[in-house]
Amino acid sequence: MPKVRENWGSKIGVILAVAGSAIGLGNFLRFPVKAATNGGGAFLIPYFIALILVGIPVAWIEWALGRHGGKYGHGSAPGILNAITRKPWAKYLGCLGVFGPLLIFFYYCYIESWLLGFSWYALTGELGRITAEGKIGAFFGDYIGLKIMILGGIPSAFFFFLVTFVANFIVIILGIRHGIELVNKIALPAIFVLGFMLLVRTLTLPGIGSGLGYMWNPDFSTLLNSKVWFEAAGQIFFTLSVGIGVIMTYASYVKKKQDIALSSLTACATNELAEVIIGGTLVIPLAIVIYGASNIAEIAKLGTFGLGFQTMPVIFGKISFGGFFLFVWFFLLFLAGITSSVSILQPAVSFLEDDAGMGRRSSIGIVAFITFFFGLLAVFGLDGGAVDEMDWMTDFCLISFGLVETIIFGWFFGIDKGMKELREGAEIEVPRFFEFVFKYVTPASLIFILGFWLVQNAPGRIFLNGVKEAQVKFGLWEVSNLTVIHGTRIAMLALVIGICVFIAAAWKRRRIDERLEGIKI
Ligand code: ALA
Repeated sequence: MPKVRENWGSKIGVILAVAGSAIGLGNFLRFPVKAATNGGGAFLIPYFIALILVGIPVAWIEWALGRHGGKYGHGSAPGILNAITRKPWAKYLGCLGVFGPLLIFFYYCYIESWLLGFSWYALTGELGRITAEGKIGAFFGDYIGLKIMILGGIPSAFFFFLVTFVANFIVIILGIRHGIELVNKIALPAIFVLGFMLLVRTLTLPGIGSGLGYMWNPDFSTLLNSKVWFEAAGQIFFTLSVGIGVIMTYASYVKKKQDIALSSLTACATNELAEVIIGGTLVIPLAIVIYGASNIAEIAKLGTFGLGFQTMPVIFGKISFGGFFLFVWFFLLFLAGITSSVSILQPAVSFLEDDAGMGRRSSIGIVAFITFFFGLLAVFGLDGGAVDEMDWMTDFCLISFGLVETIIFGWFFGIDKGMKELREGAEIEVPRFFEFVFKYVTPASLIFILGFWLVQNAPGRIFLNGVKEAQVKFGLWEVSNLTVIHGTRIAMLALVIGICVFIAAAWKRRRIDERLEGIKI
């Protein structure tokens, strides 16, 4: 007998879960930096075009493929793509939809744990003191260098990593309805309340108009640069959590005739509210008010993490009630992080449960073992470049899996069947214009984006342009950074091969089971 799968407890539950997956560090740190450095207000033109031609269509495709796969008892990409195409090779392409999310979790969980650690130090007042002494840069370096201790000798970053890791798995153990849905029902409103508190504080600062002016003043000449269009599309992918396989897995738990068309749009709109309105008003305009526009280039060089972890404490140190708002800032980011990180664990768990036929406990146990092991690679190998490696592999996985999903939807499932699935139970009319978009415009845009990435970004990353050999710390050992980088590559390749072997074994078992039970799927 096929297993009875869980369902979401309510329609709002799945919308909040998908929005929670989308709203993450990308909204509050990545987006403002991208917009400010790519034409300010003008960046919104390629950004919204990418939202309509790539973001919303791929999100709809993932919802439709996911709910369809769920009807056949599949909750992850290998099973869903196999059920839709009935082609044996399709399940191996689905490997990307299991590997990609795991890959992101390996480092996302560690970065999320920094936010918990910094929330703690903000709450105890220590961060305010360190910032007042002008030592925040050194503190951040020592924290991620595992030199700050807690509880009488445990590296603080490692301690908060363990707490964050366990918290994520508690949510997964509690399940779809009592874990993921419940956490999102609490965390998402909290993110908006905390976000609006920061927004109001920011908008009441004297001189904020010049900060907003700098951020949003449009420079239309940037639109002639193809890099700006690429960055806009990349941001849309990252922020909406599309092309990871997460939405597909979440949608597989939606009831057969429940709306997905409006739910998807609502989740996208919620994400855009958090990104453009809240994210676009905080970091950069605040930095301009405090440092002045002439210094912003220097500050931007600190990068996304530098802005979030080093610049924001300095900014809050200069405004009234800054200590409280500093805690609000880090805790907001931590909540945004955890609602995203639990979502990227679920595809692998669903794969083991639904397709490999494993029990729930063993599935979670295996995923916990793998993510802990590779998570340690991120913790100890950060200095040696392990996280940078995982980061560029993520770009590749997102874009290529988005392309795979789009081609399978438009060309194998077929636009007619695809639209029928999307319109089933829909509470809005999906315009016919999207039939053309799904079939031609989205795949063509993704081929362009992937081609651009392969030509412009990939060679430098793969051949390590500009990377010099150096001795770095890896836990207790001193090793070459090249050892860490090549080790990370070998480890990731081994994981991909392992997942493919698991997929082959799962289908072999399914065939045996079907023969024994005489069940047709
Ligand atoms: N969509 C998530 C974010 O924006 C991954 O951080």
